[in-house]
Amino acid sequence: MPELTELYVQVRACKKCDLSKGRTNAVPGEGPANAEIMFIGEAPGFHEDREGRPFVGAAGKFLDELLALIGMQREQVYIGNVIKCRPPQNRDPLPEEMDACKPYLDQQIELIKPKVILTISRFAMMRWFPDKKISEIHGKPKKFGDLVVLPMYHPAAALHQPSLRRVLEEDFKRVPQILKELADLKEEPEEKPQPPPQQMSMF
Ligand code: URA
Ligand code: SF4
Repeated sequence: MPELTELYVQVRACKKCDLSKGRTNAVPGEGPANAEIMFIGEAPGFHEDREGRPFVGAAGKFLDELLALIGMQREQVYIGNVIKCRPPQNRDPLPEEMDACKPYLDQQIELIKPKVILTISRFAMMRWFPDKKISEIHGKPKKFGDLVVLPMYHPAAALHQPSLRRVLEEDFKRVPQILKELADLKEEPEEKPQPPPQQMSMF
């Protein structure tokens, strides 16, 4: 399996789907290879395509504000997308584009091994919750083996619909609690008695 930087070289040169034809820059994703938290958005937009970096527009600014709420900075988390090249007019990605691009995200997840993945787009959510609605499951963390996935609304949705801003903030504020619970689970000795109901796992 290639390292992240090798993966970036592959993505920037990729021509596996037609989105390669309209892009200025592919946007592989960015962040530390050992990040505990990974955001997965949808696809690059106008600004991301220009700069080759994820979430550099208005939605990205809100993402930075969310991180600040829990005392974190963008440099401490990994930020990626399901699709690495901008679809024309920001249209939804097509199934064949999703299939073509999937191995890159698979490898990113495999290499980074985040503790918590925050899906911040419908297409990222579909990977773990194919039949669910964001309005029903946002903010509810779910465990998949060692990984916890927290579905959230897309930050851009809050820019169009101000009432979602508070929802995103409240959902995001659960992240430290999730990380703490994961750390506690790890430390728990095997023979420890079952916790009482009020301390039951949040997952
Ligand atoms: N929206 C996304 O889903 N991803 C980006 O990188 C920017 C905006
Ligand atoms: Fe390759 Fe993904 Fe870009 Fe399509 S969207 S050209 S599969 S990197």
